[in-house]
Amino acid sequence: AKTNKTVDERLLSICELLESQIKYYNWVGFYFRNENKDELLLGPYIGKQTDHTVIPFGKGICGQVAVSNENFVVPDVAAQDNYIACSIDVKAEIVVPIFVNGENIGQIDIDSNTPDPFTEADERFLEFVCAEIAGILS
Ligand code: SME
Repeated sequence: AKTNKTVDERLLSICELLESQIKYYNWVGFYFRNENKDELLLGPYIGKQTDHTVIPFGKGICGQVAVSNENFVVPDVAAQDNYIACSIDVKAEIVVPIFVNGENIGQIDIDSNTPDPFTEADERFLEFVCAEIAGILS
């Protein structure tokens, strides 16, 4: 449907929808590549405020996805090396890259307060969401 929303408003609406409708999605946000820099910048998000507004490529789960171009599912954040903690409530995380014209331009990042909640169904669903978002962005 056509709306007058800005891109950021639309991305925030997607965060709100996912966080409100899926019980084990407790923090939902976007990181996007800072143009011509090897770092991610925090975009629209829903959930606890985070200090991690800039993440260098390679750092944390998000920074690793920026270079791997692959989904990253973390069933237990306490057992994970190279993880950036945002909140003590978080038990698990999933990050799925967003591709525009084959280029990894950012990602959706979801934290869960439930241990090991993410399945392949979440990966397929979030890949679909990210493909739709690529359409909004291009
Ligand atoms: N945990 C992420 C950092 C971002 S917060 O989850 C909002 C990471 O390790 O990259």
